[in-house]
Amino acid sequence: MPTINRQFAKYSFLLLAGTILALIFGCTNHHPQSPFDTVGPVSESQALIFYIIMYAGLVVFVITMSLLAYFTFKYRKKDGDDSDPEQVHGNSSLEIAWTVIPALLLIAVAVPTINSLFDTTVSPDPDALTVKVTGNQWWFRFDIPELGVVTANELHIPVGEVINIQLDSKDVIHSFWVPKLAGKVDMIPNNDNTMWFQSNEEGVFYGQCAEFCGESHALMRFRVVVESREEFDAWVERQLADAVKPSDPLTQQGHDLFMSSDAGCYACHTIRGSQKAYGEVGPELTHFASRLHILSGIQDNTHENLIAWITDPDAIKPGNIMSKNGSVYTDPDKALSDPEITALAAYLRSLE
Ligand code: CUA
Repeated sequence: MPTINRQFAKYSFLLLAGTILALIFGCTNHHPQSPFDTVGPVSESQALIFYIIMYAGLVVFVITMSLLAYFTFKYRKKDGDDSDPEQVHGNSSLEIAWTVIPALLLIAVAVPTINSLFDTTVSPDPDALTVKVTGNQWWFRFDIPELGVVTANELHIPVGEVINIQLDSKDVIHSFWVPKLAGKVDMIPNNDNTMWFQSNEEGVFYGQCAEFCGESHALMRFRVVVESREEFDAWVERQLADAVKPSDPLTQQGHDLFMSSDAGCYACHTIRGSQKAYGEVGPELTHFASRLHILSGIQDNTHENLIAWITDPDAIKPGNIMSKNGSVYTDPDKALSDPEITALAAYLRSLE
């Protein structure tokens, strides 16, 4: 028996040490999705609540555990003492004290919490730029109605300005989360959840769907690019322009294939300025090449990654609509040849 106990103790210790290490390293600020590395007022306010509650809990923990250790030691069984300890029943002052103190503590925590709840939920500027975000399995659509911008998986915003966010979903429940900017809010079909944020720093911030929404949930990411007002205005202007026309035989071949019923890409994607590509099932591609990433933020926007994606989308993002419904993937007779895939990738990568 002692052997089993020793082994149990050893494995318990390893498990505990592993958990503590995971928690310590999981909480570092130097992580692209750390909610502690705050860059705006909403995430700052939410992180502050976390710290208040954590330090209050820490004080209670240390006091309680110290008293427990002290009494355990003081009233331990001593050699040659076989009598029962003195039995005590009820102590009104103590009972009142340990009811009132926690109640006061909870009230003290509730005041800043409720304050922050209102500050972070209600936009300080309802007339500020509004972005409509729609969740899809598994990508994000961004509309900025007042500017006429529609894009996917990469949202640009101006630094230091309030951004109002309206959340919706086309299929199941998703959740919108940019950890450095704001806590997550669910995206529910036909429900108008709203939030706001503001970034006081320029940079590229990671976003992620935070509600399990199917097999590729973990691959549903996006980026928020925060830039100066001038850069943002220039970005808007570029986004509003129609797609560039094919300029060489290879991109022309890719364009023709994209718009053909053989490949059928046009039926699900929009390329503004084209004759027929106005589908809204898949991400809008008018300025595909201007984005930093492809596949909703999971890979860099490179020719090789795009080739791999068009060749076998199900291997990269399991269950996606394109591999399930695109006839070039479901019908072996219609499968794209390598030169066709190269042409399609060249065309998409020309859409600056
Ligand atoms: Cu969308 Cu998880």
